[in-house]
Amino acid sequence: MSYSEPTTKEWIRSLFEPGQLLFWAMTYYVRENVDAVFRRGQVLAPLLQTTKLRDEAFGKFWVAFSTTPSDEPGPQQSLLENRVQGSSDLIPPILARAEGIVLDVGPGTGTQMPLLVSPNIKAIYGAEPCHGLHAELRAKVEAEGLAKKYTILPCSVVASDLIPAMQKEGLLINHNAGGGVFDTIICVRVLCSVPDMNRTIRELYTLLRPGGKLLVTEHVVNPWMTPKGSIVARLFQATYGFLGWSWYLGDCCMNRDTETALKKAADRDGGWESVELDRWFGGSPLPYISGVLTKKGTPFGPWDM
Ligand SMILES: C[S@@+](CC[C@H](N)C(=O)[O-])C[C@H]1O[C@@H](n2cnc3c(N)ncnc32)[C@H](O)[C@@H]1O
Repeated sequence: MSYSEPTTKEWIRSLFEPGQLLFWAMTYYVRENVDAVFRRGQVLAPLLQTTKLRDEAFGKFWVAFSTTPSDEPGPQQSLLENRVQGSSDLIPPILARAEGIVLDVGPGTGTQMPLLVSPNIKAIYGAEPCHGLHAELRAKVEAEGLAKKYTILPCSVVASDLIPAMQKEGLLINHNAGGGVFDTIICVRVLCSVPDMNRTIRELYTLLRPGGKLLVTEHVVNPWMTPKGSIVARLFQATYGFLGWSWYLGDCCMNRDTETALKKAADRDGGWESVELDRWFGGSPLPYISGVLTKKGTPFGPWDM
């Protein structure tokens, strides 16, 4: 896929776009607090239930954000023209490689679900801890005709939450034998939010079967010390962090070196079988990595039989 560097005007706009998102998320937080005090009469809620209100506000914000049509040409249009314009264009070719038993980490409202309809996919488990998103997610499962394949796991991907939820679904037989569980694990814009990212990625690696694939499209820390990065964009990342980006946006962090953590996760097996990762949008406060990491070993497929 081709990519043309942004013009100066586009670059300046890219610096401020996360600010608009942050402002939008803040309005949901304020509204949630006002509702608690004046509509529900919970006068002390802003002080005593801060995290609960914040999580509810983020759930409502994400439903609004992820279901509002964007003015930009969609991924299908960009795919037809074979060019990358925004981060959404990176996702379809990566998710096209999903097969077998799939773990979708933090599916949100199911924005990526239309990309998961291949017959090579046998079952999908969506680990989504934000209960405020489950109604939208369930509706999307129905709309995409995936009711027989898709199970929502109402939990975080952190092992202490995920393992009991998987046990409940009878998913841990192979894992107990040390063979992993999933043929594909999907991480789209979620490793920025998980607690203790290094540990979580190592746990996900363990859950991959031999030959399994980790499909990743994630925004990361700006590589400002390399020729592909931008010190200005890094400063914007720090500023957004200071203004409460993580607080208002569901624990999302802009400063994570996700690429290093992903590569290191396979160290105990002498590395991954293959790492196909590309870096994108190095001048922006939301630079991305996108690609596929394959675990050593022989995969279970073929899945198209
Ligand atoms: C930015 S949204 C991305 C949603 C979806 N992957 C997409 O591409 O539209 C991040 C999602 O990760 C979820 N999330 C946050 N922490 C998580 C965790 N520890 N385990 C699983 N999901 C998590 C959030 O609830 C939210 O739905």
